[in-house]
Amino acid sequence: EKAGHRHFMAKEIHEQPQTLSDVLAAYLDGDRVAPPVDHDFAAADRVVMVACGTANFACSVAKYWFEGLARMPVDVDIASEYRYREGPVSPASTALFVSQSGETADTLAALRYARGKAAAIVSVVNVTTSSIARESDVALPILAGVEVGVASTKAFVNQLAVLLCLAIRAGVQRGVIDSEREAALVAGLRRLPGLMSQAMAIETRCEELASRLAEASDVLFLGRGLMFPMAHEGALKLKEISYIHAEAYASGELKHGPIALVDRTLPVVVLAPTDALFDKTVSNMQEVMAREGQVLLVTDSEGAARASEGVWQTLVMPAIDPLMAPILYAVPAQLLAYHTAVHKGTDVDQPRNLAKSVTVE
Ligand code: M6R
Repeated sequence: EKAGHRHFMAKEIHEQPQTLSDVLAAYLDGDRVAPPVDHDFAAADRVVMVACGTANFACSVAKYWFEGLARMPVDVDIASEYRYREGPVSPASTALFVSQSGETADTLAALRYARGKAAAIVSVVNVTTSSIARESDVALPILAGVEVGVASTKAFVNQLAVLLCLAIRAGVQRGVIDSEREAALVAGLRRLPGLMSQAMAIETRCEELASRLAEASDVLFLGRGLMFPMAHEGALKLKEISYIHAEAYASGELKHGPIALVDRTLPVVVLAPTDALFDKTVSNMQEVMAREGQVLLVTDSEGAARASEGVWQTLVMPAIDPLMAPILYAVPAQLLAYHTAVHKGTDVDQPRNLAKSVTVE
């Protein structure tokens, strides 16, 4: 059942090029984005996205996409905070809930809070028969197949893929994206599964680095823009399965506190595809190196050529349109955590104190 893999998590990581291609097949039609159920984002004044854990980081990535591609204001909230804050809900808003299981108690309670207050309840779920799917006006499937590992991998990637498709669709509906731009974006989406297969080539290097990461008591993840929520996802993956304390910071926040932690014992994972913010991130990375922090730079070959000097290790990823980089950079986040946990001998698929679906608050 693990298809020759040692753990479900490894199987699910390696399934991703296929599961990603499955979801894209359902959301793309020729050179258009065509979700299986069409929600009208043009009528909404804003989107409120609510979720827990990894699903919440998918929402944080999607905020950049909806703002940039559809010029829509987006709020992202953690379900356990949203449900009790009694925040005002705009009657013209779309409330969007993301959940792999569709049974997370806090996310379901947040949905019930928004019901009757927002104009529409949309959910992005893996389990289409779940409570969250049933109680939504529109339930969009992520089509990742059954995910067994407690640490979410392929569901996260497919949540991102669906949310990016929705952001593009919203941009088209709101007249921000014309058909030429839509076709170019769809062409980029269609390249993703192939790029993801290529990205799996970093696995051997992740395995080598794992022995060093396994010795660390703390690991810092840094990123800017779309890579900031990805830094959070990398830190969450590492802490939940390897039990190593990991934190994520926006690169630009480094000098407002966390740089005090940096010394030669601290591995600092920097997620930095070459994008418009690359040089900014590199200058933050240099501040870490000046304090002897051990930088593990995850970038593409151009980034490696420009910024590898003085870094402890570089992981070279395929080049990609920066807008779509989060979908690809999920892979190093997962593989670093996975191999570090395997090296430590923890129970990767069933880490201590955690449940696959959190049905109590
Ligand atoms: O089923 P859900 O997507 O609602 O679950 C939300 C979180 O509990 C979940 O993503 C959790 O953070 C994972 N263990 C992360 O790997």
